[in-house]
Formats: sequence, C-alpha cells, structure tokens
Amino acid sequence: MRKKAIITSALPYANGEIHLGHVASTYLPADVTTRFLKLNGVEAYYVCASDDFGTPILIQSERENKTPAEYVEYWNRRDYEDFEALGIGFDYFYKTSSPENKKFVQDVFSKLDAAGHIYKQEIIQFYCNNDKKFLPDRYVKGSCPYCMAQDQYSDLCEICGRVPEEITDPRCSLCGQAPTKEKTDHYFFRLKDFGEQLSEWLEKNDGLQRDVKKYVQNWIKEGLIDWDVTRDISWGVPIPLEEARGKVFYGWFDNHLAYISTAVKFLETKGIDGKEFWNSADIYHFIGKDIAYHHYLFLPAMRMGLGKEYKLPDYIPTRGHLTLQAKKLSKSKNWYIGLKEFLEYYPADYLRYYLVSINPYSQDDLNFDWDDFATRINSELIGNLGNFVNRALGFTKKSFDGVISDPGDPDKLDAEAESRIKSLGSDAGALLEQNHLDRALKKIMEFSSYFNQYFQHKEPWKNGAGAAGCVYHSVNAVYCIAVAVSPFLPEAAQKIWGQLGLDGDVSGSSWDDIAYGIASGHKLGESSPLFARVEGSDIAKYKRLLGPQK
Ligand code: 2FM
Ligand code: ZN
Repeated sequence: MRKKAIITSALPYANGEIHLGHVASTYLPADVTTRFLKLNGVEAYYVCASDDFGTPILIQSERENKTPAEYVEYWNRRDYEDFEALGIGFDYFYKTSSPENKKFVQDVFSKLDAAGHIYKQEIIQFYCNNDKKFLPDRYVKGSCPYCMAQDQYSDLCEICGRVPEEITDPRCSLCGQAPTKEKTDHYFFRLKDFGEQLSEWLEKNDGLQRDVKKYVQNWIKEGLIDWDVTRDISWGVPIPLEEARGKVFYGWFDNHLAYISTAVKFLETKGIDGKEFWNSADIYHFIGKDIAYHHYLFLPAMRMGLGKEYKLPDYIPTRGHLTLQAKKLSKSKNWYIGLKEFLEYYPADYLRYYLVSINPYSQDDLNFDWDDFATRINSELIGNLGNFVNRALGFTKKSFDGVISDPGDPDKLDAEAESRIKSLGSDAGALLEQNHLDRALKKIMEFSSYFNQYFQHKEPWKNGAGAAGCVYHSVNAVYCIAVAVSPFLPEAAQKIWGQLGLDGDVSGSSWDDIAYGIASGHKLGESSPLFARVEGSDIAKYKRLLGPQK
C-alpha cells in the first residue's frame, strides 16, 4: 500500500438515472475501498465525473428539445445527488465536457500523433440525405446479421451481444429513411502496435485480477485491431486539426482521460502537483466487466503511447453484472430499481450492506433478490450486529449506569474475547487490501456473532464475578465494530460512535484503533436501536412495482 492513492470508478453516462446495477459493480466497492485507505492514513482521493459525450446523449437531447450541454448538466447534478444520498464520498465529481478535459484530450491526441501512433484513413460511413448527417453508432438501426434480431443499433446487437460489422437493412434512427454510404476521413489509434507491451504489463502486474488478465491475454493473442477514434457528429471534443474541422473524438477516446484531468484539476485546487501525485500514488480504476476491453487495452495503450507521462493503473477491480430477481436488468421493461427510489424505501446502509455482502471480487454476476435482502437485513444486520450493539450498550447503561467498569482478572472466555479483539483489524484489513470486501464484511459479522455468544455465556445480568469484565470486553468489541464497519456502513458506524459517548467523527479514527479504545471509567452516550426491521408486506409491494405496469 503506497501512502497516496487515486481511486476512480467508471464514469456514469449523463444520460439517465443511476440504478442498483451501477452501484453494485463500481461506485460502492470504490467508496468502501477509499474509506478503508483513508482510515489507514493513505492520502486517498476518490474522483469521478459524468461521461457527457457520445451519440446516445446527442440523440436523447435532440428528442427532448434540449441542447446537449443542458441535457448533460441536468444528469451531472442529479447523479451526484443520488450518489451522495448513498454515502458515496467523492472527493471530487466533475465532467468529461469540462474545459480541462477537452484541453487534456486534445493535447494527448497531439502527442500520440507526434509519436506516430495515429493515422488517417478514408472509411465508408452511413449518411442520411434527409437529416444531412453522418450516422455513426446509434444513429443507425437495422437487423443483426448474426441472429437476425430486428430493430438493433448498428454498434451493438442487444439480443446476441455481438458488434455487427455491417447491419442488415439499415435505417436512419431519426427519420427512418434508408441511408446512403459516403466517404469520410477518420483517425485511427494504432492499438495493434501495443500488443506485446500490453501483454508484458498484464503479466508483470500482480495487482490486476487474475481471471480478467487471462481473457485479455486471449484477446491480444487473437489479434488487436486499430481503433477508429473519430465521429462525424457535433457533440464531442473537437479533433485539434484544421483538416478535421467538424469532427470530434469518439467518447471512449476522451472519457477515461477524464480520470487524469479530473484528478489533476482537483489536486491543483488543493495546491498539489497533480502529475507528481498521480505518478507516486496507487491508481485504482473500479469497473464493471462490460468495459474491461476499454480499461485493459485502450486505456493502458494510450498511456503507454504517451511515454512515461502518467503511470498505468495498479488495480482495475472488475465485477460482474447485477441481475434483479434472477433476471437481466432492463430499463425499457421496467426491470430495474433506481437508486433514488430505493433510498426512499430504506436507509443507505441497508443497501450498502446487502450489495457488499453478495458481491465477490470476481466477474461473476450477482443477484438482487428482495426476499434475500429482507432476510439478510433482518437476521444479519439487525439480528446479529444491531442486536449485539444494543445489548452490550443497553445492559451497561441499565446495570452500570453507562460507566465502563474495571475488567478485573480475565477468565478463559475473556482471554478468548481479548484475542478476537486484537486480531479483527489485521484479519479484516488483509481482506480489504486484497479487494475482498465481501469477505472482510463477513469477518466483522462473525466477530459480532462471536460477541453475541460471549455475552450470552457470560450472563452478566446475574451480576456474578464476570459481569464487569463482560461489560469491558463487550463495549470494546462494539468500539471495534464501529471503526471496522465504518467503510461499509458509515451512518450506522457514526450512530454507534455517538452511543459509545465518543465525540467527533468515526472516520477521523484509524484502522489501527481496532483494539481496546474504551478505558474503564468511560461513560457511554444514549443508546437506541440502530435499525428497523424490513417488513414482508413492504417487500411484496416493491416486488409488484417491477415489470410492465398494468
Ligand atoms: O460504460 C459506461 O457507462 C461508460 N460511461 C464508462 C466510462 S468509464 C471511462 F471513462 F473510462
Ligand atoms: Zn434521417
């Protein structure tokens, strides 16, 4: 672990609301990791931005009679608010359409061009004579040549998942007319030249996920193809060449560069040399598996093409897709749950707990299931953690007037409790460092479960010789839980902190504090239940909201 870190998560398209699928794979794991790093004294910054360019955004803004700039401005703000409500603690949230990013993207292009990594080539592209425009990507619809599915965009068949070389029976998606084919000059990035260097980088870098590396190596073996980075549309970063007037960069050329330009801009407002910080920090890019190709090939190759200007990522944690009630998410079929909507039903920590618990450090898909959600919240978060915290603090309030007693000589149970308290930080910390957030959370829950049993066996309510020791160890276990669980459940951790009678913010403590932090003589604050149960009748209601509405 370096003493500095920059954490990013896939930039959300400024084109619709954030839903649980987005949160599970990238924003939440990145947030938990950032909070953990900060507790370890790492100067860590979590930066993100809205992804503002691309044909889908341009088309949608045209449909809504807005300028694309107005359109993305709305979603930029809305996304940020929704993330904030979930406790996603970005240090900075900016946009790919910022002046800093535009300038940075143009500089990168000029440098790649000067270094010989760019070439121009004439290509044939669909053109609509009615709308008088070239029709890249989503501007053309037709039938998939592989599976014959109708009404598919030219850049992706949503039925078979393939990218058609040329769509059958093409139609302009704006006016429905058949397009013609016209010649146009495009710029290509020589991705093919980077195969060997990419392969070596993957081989050497232990921080990258093993399962992803394997199939990226296969893509390289199958042969890379040079990458068309131009679009003949009006919304994008202009290509900085006189001869390319009216052309802009493909969104995937500019968006990941905003990881750097946004971080540098933020660091500079803090008086820190952005480039120097970037190059001496651990770099994390959290993503979902659908954009592995872009992050394991395009992104590193472009950075390699720049020489040693900006270091490559150390970690690209890549997670699977979220399904809902075991079915693929679909906005058009109303088979998804918006983040804002969910947070109207339940506190942020419920969602954070559930999504971390079901989300391993792998590309396997994960499933949001309403009944499983209710069970886990009621039996694990409330029945285990909430119950222990409430029991230990409530008992101390009632029987000891909220004052932590001197533990006296430890018995066998106390000795075991002490060793658990002393090892929680290193056990859970090691898992968090390896990105196994779900396993780290499980460790903390096992710790809580152990202390529930400890409390039960010690029977302090009988007020025998062991009662004082039981209070002392149990309250300290609650203290350890508050610190350890704070990256996962920041609100609940802060509540526990207050109930322990501690001032300030739990996030101001240190991971090393996971030990005996409460001395005898300390007085607790007021205690109250941390969580409210999830009711079956509500779950039934939320399930009925999914799918086509009658
Ligand atoms: O797939 C997406 O949602 C893209 N908006 C992610 C962009 S990440 C990038 F900037 F690298
Ligand atoms: Zn048209």
